[in-house]
Amino acid sequence: MKRIGVLISGRGTNLQALIDAQKKGELPGQIVIVVSNKSNAQGLERARKAGIKTEIVTKIDFPEREDHDKRVADILDSHQVDLVVLAGYMRILTHVLVDRFKNRIINIHPALLPAFKGVDAQKQAVEYGVRISGCTTHFVDLDTDAGPIILQTPVPVAGNDTGESLADRILAEEHKTLVRTVRLFCEDRLTVDGRKVIIRED
Ligand code: GRF
Repeated sequence: MKRIGVLISGRGTNLQALIDAQKKGELPGQIVIVVSNKSNAQGLERARKAGIKTEIVTKIDFPEREDHDKRVADILDSHQVDLVVLAGYMRILTHVLVDRFKNRIINIHPALLPAFKGVDAQKQAVEYGVRISGCTTHFVDLDTDAGPIILQTPVPVAGNDTGESLADRILAEEHKTLVRTVRLFCEDRLTVDGRKVIIRED
């Protein structure tokens, strides 16, 4: 059983999807710690309700990025975490976290990478006029939204979509895609080979 740490900054619906999957026995892993960089993140409440331990590490307590990440990495290590999931974690990671958890950090991004990196990806997609967007899970390296891609799910863009309406439809797919990705990791089916992720099917 893999031990999972989830990092959040806000609402936490992706965290909730993982909690629900775990409860239904669909995840051969256990969320052992949730860390938020925002003390008022709604996701913290979701974790507490599910009986999962929480920690808050803010910019005010750790203004230097490396110090902040060291604190987070130490918390994750103290819970012997095998996998770190960034579920709406609105911080760019430094080498301190990336090196300590190499190929063990997964992010979910609300666009088909490498298109529309960064914030407001759904609004970027609508404004660009693409017909298809979606979501991507990937391993995290030092470049933002750029690590090896694990899974992608397409979502069609309608002519009258706004950033918000597209975000709602992508979010529903994010939840499923993230659960599938975490399950693959927990089943030891993912291998990183350069830019590519090999998925063992059996
Ligand atoms: C999601 O759209 C995720 O892809 C992005 O931030 C949002 C977080 O939503 N990185 P939630 O906190 O999981 O509800």
